[in-house]
Formats: sequence, C-alpha cells, structure tokens
Amino acid sequence: MSRPHILLTRRWPAAVEAHLAERYDVTVNADDHPMSAAEMAEAMRTHDAVCPTVTDIFDASVIGTDGVRARIVGNYGVGYNHVDVEACRRAGITVTNTPDVLTDATADLALTLLLMVARRAGEGERMVRADAWPGWAPTQMIGRELNGKTLGLIGFGRIAQATAARAHHGFGMRIAYSAPRRQPAAIETAVLARYEPSVDALIEQSDFLSLHCPGGPATHHLINAERIARMKPGAILINTARGTVVDERALAAALAEGRIAGAGLDVYETEPKVEPALLGLENVVLLPHLGSATAETRVAMGMRVARNLDAFFAGETPPDRIA
Ligand code: DGY
Repeated sequence: MSRPHILLTRRWPAAVEAHLAERYDVTVNADDHPMSAAEMAEAMRTHDAVCPTVTDIFDASVIGTDGVRARIVGNYGVGYNHVDVEACRRAGITVTNTPDVLTDATADLALTLLLMVARRAGEGERMVRADAWPGWAPTQMIGRELNGKTLGLIGFGRIAQATAARAHHGFGMRIAYSAPRRQPAAIETAVLARYEPSVDALIEQSDFLSLHCPGGPATHHLINAERIARMKPGAILINTARGTVVDERALAAALAEGRIAGAGLDVYETEPKVEPALLGLENVVLLPHLGSATAETRVAMGMRVARNLDAFFAGETPPDRIA
C-alpha cells in the first residue's frame, strides 16, 4: 500500500521530520518561506494531509472544496484561530491541534515577560548595550515587586493555570481569574484562585493582567481603550495568547501617556508586523512569538502531530481532534 503524502508548511525540528519520513512521503518547505495561499491550496489538492502552523491563514479559499485530496489538517500548535474549522467540517476534513505539550514553555514565557516588564529588564539591557549606563544609583530604574500583588488572568485553561502556579508558588502572587466557565474547586484551590465573573471587575482589581483566551472574532479587541482605562494606573499587561485580543493602538496610546505602567507582548495583531507606535516605547517588552520556542516543546509538538496523523491513517479518531 502506498504511504500517505503529507506536507509541512514550515520546517520542523529535524528529529520530527526524520520521524515522519519513516512513515510518510513528506514534502517539506525546503527554504522555510511562509507559503502563499495559492501554494497551500495546491498542497490541499496534492497531499493526503497538510500540516500548517500559526503563520498560515488556512481560510475557506485555501481549504477549497473541488478536487481537494487532503483529508486531515494536522495543525502544529495549540491555537487554531488561523484555521477555518467550519469550512473543514463542511468539506469533511479532520482538524487536529497540539494541546498540553506547550503549556509549560508558554507559562514560562508569560513569567519571563511579567518579570522583564516589572523589573524593567528590556529597558536596562538596552541602556547597557548602548553604553549609556552611568553606574549604580539608589533611584535608578526602579521596578515593581511581584510578591503580594494580584495577577488577574483572562481565561483559565491549561496555560493560565500553569502561569498561576508559577506566579503563586514561585513569586507569592495572589491569583484571580475570569473565564466563561468557573473551574472546579480543586483547580482553584491549587493556587488559591478567586473567580471573578466580570472581566471589567477583574481588570480593575489586577496589578498584573495576563491574557490566556483563544483568538478569533469572540475575543477580538477584548482589551480595548475602554478596558485599558479601567486598569490600575500602575498595572502591567501581558499577552502570550493572540495579538488580536488587544487593540494595539489603544495600548500604545495608554503606554505613551503612562496611564498604565507597562506591557509585555509575545503576540501581535498582524504578525510579523508590530504596531509602529509600540516600537519606540521603553515601557513595553516585545518578543517575537516565542511562547512554545524551546527545543523540547517544538519536538513534542511535532510528535503530537505525528500521533494524530498515525491515528487518522490507521482509521482511528486522532486524540486531539477538533473537527
Ligand atoms: C500555538 O501553539 O498556538 C502557539 O501560539 C504557537 O506555537
């Protein structure tokens, strides 16, 4: 029997590509360029499985209907707002993602940003590199401590819970969260989390606000000018979720005016472009979507896709099936 043909839209860790090549006829994107919609649509017509990432806009025009050969879209990533899941469902195409394996890496990065902004690490690093450090002084570059402060989390899934555990047990922070559904008592108790049904109330109470909700139309600009105005004057916003959750222009205006103390962003509204008004600000730390970027996690994500493909082509339900 011929082996299924699969296409990876980007280069994956070598160990995963080698693993997949043992089971499948794999087409790799040799120079790792972001593929165009036309290239991805062609891949859907010529491969049994196509495996996109967060950089690929997998809309109805890419998924297509006529002459589509692909029966599964194996997303390399947990977030799948870039995939039109409904269009896949209509076309009878299975969709999978990679939950769990990037929880720790992403929570680590949320804490990285939290600390960097609170302790002004980006600003300090830029000063040292610019050879502009005048030397130690009691009043120089004063930051904020985490201990005893309230970390408000919007969304309380796996990554938010892991972030809360680090913040609470590692840094003595108080945890509050807002989410469509309240979590069971055992999950709340593990980090002494307080449930706050109102997003606005959570924002008003938080010293640090960290976003952990999915992207997509339902959360587009959830953090807008009006909600930023509700934040405490010294508050810090952290976004490791999706860029579209925050109105970047409104955030840049609030940061420029010093209405909030700072922000740490790993994701952007139209990646890889970053709102120009943010680029010149000292009180924002900007990272290039590094949430899952550890060697261990990127391999684990690829192996998770492999597991889903293996199940699918064995005629079973893939463990991480979304559609
Ligand atoms: C995801 O998996 O959704 C991340 O944003 C990319 O790794």
